[in-house]
Amino acid sequence: MTRKDTQKSEFIAALAAALEGKTFIKLTLGKFRGEGDPGKAVATLVALKDIPHLKLVTSFARKDDTKTFSINDGINYIKSEIGETYLSATLFAADRDVTLTYSRKREPHLTSGKPTLNASAPAAHDRAKSYLVPPDRPYLKALQVSDADGCVKPTMQGKYRQICRFIEIFDGLLKESDRSDAKGRLSILDIGSGKGYLTFALYDHMTTTLGLDCRMTGIEVRGDLVKLCNDLARTLAFSGLSFDAAEAGEKRAAADVVIALHACDTATDDAMALGIGANAKMILAAPCCQHELAPQISGANAGLAGITKYPLLKQRQADLVTDAARALLLEASGYKVKVIEFVSTEHTAKNILIAATKSGSVNRDRAMRQYQELKRATGFETHHLVAQLKGVE
Ligand SMILES: C[S@@+](CC[C@H](N)C(=O)[O-])C[C@H]1O[C@@H](n2cnc3c(N)ncnc32)[C@H](O)[C@@H]1O
Repeated sequence: MTRKDTQKSEFIAALAAALEGKTFIKLTLGKFRGEGDPGKAVATLVALKDIPHLKLVTSFARKDDTKTFSINDGINYIKSEIGETYLSATLFAADRDVTLTYSRKREPHLTSGKPTLNASAPAAHDRAKSYLVPPDRPYLKALQVSDADGCVKPTMQGKYRQICRFIEIFDGLLKESDRSDAKGRLSILDIGSGKGYLTFALYDHMTTTLGLDCRMTGIEVRGDLVKLCNDLARTLAFSGLSFDAAEAGEKRAAADVVIALHACDTATDDAMALGIGANAKMILAAPCCQHELAPQISGANAGLAGITKYPLLKQRQADLVTDAARALLLEASGYKVKVIEFVSTEHTAKNILIAATKSGSVNRDRAMRQYQELKRATGFETHHLVAQLKGVE
């Protein structure tokens, strides 16, 4: 075996051992040298029907490509890519990091060092906050986030951290919000509720932890997920929680709070328009898949051609413009807006949370002027949120 093969074999052995010994956190592939334009690829563990699999997400300019493998197939796939299409690979395990890089002449260099990530033990700041969401809550077990003993499963650490962070943010905003005229029941709409992780978490927090009278509805286009969530709500006797198979843009009864977490593309705008129309006290959205404005943005007026000529930077710029436009329209509608980091970028790039609370002290005219300036500078013409709000401009 050549030195080249030995180093690669050692790296693959370290990967297999980490997967076997349950110390694997993630693996990244970088320095792409194949065809096309992907950035890096990240492999993490996912459970499919309770069996661990490797999920490999390759980031392209406009979308991500996801492949899911059995553990053995995943190891073989990674083995075939390293040193060929990717010239660097880093294994993040709970006990160490292992990196294999190749020089231009394809000479390998294997190094190992202290771990930079630790999946099993939450960081001290996460531990302090996780008291809001005890891992042994029945809905967490039912949703397979925690095992039967109430311990968070290794593959669900990221999801659990996201749940904890969301509840922590929501809890803080609820305390800050003006609930002086709150009479009895609080109604919450969750647009694009998906499998319901955050919906169940919020309902449980509002009712079990805070003892509030809460009625919550998840809105989700996928009928299979709606059925799954309604069945679980019944099993858990969450009598105020239900799910509707419907489009985000459909008209609905008033709500005190509207949330939309990673609701795709303009479903976020529909949720915001719904909240504004209902005069909701709080609107929380974690946007993703912002596709509407990118094709319209030129940035030429603002001297941004140096950004927009690169497709990846243009998309990032469009994401920022889209979310800034949304935040400004919320302000123009009388909401105090915070744009905060939802979860660390280490877990997902979709990590911005727009948190809006109704307030009488917002400079609405200034926000609308800033919106118009942003629109002029970046060159977009049509915006779904404006279309839904009708007459706001
Ligand atoms: C990425 S998932 C997020 C699920 C959940 N909110 C979470 O954060 O875990 C987005 C969900 O939104 C749903 N969705 C997308 N567009 C929608 C629309 N226009 N109306 C209702 N649901 C929508 C999708 O079917 C999907 O289940």
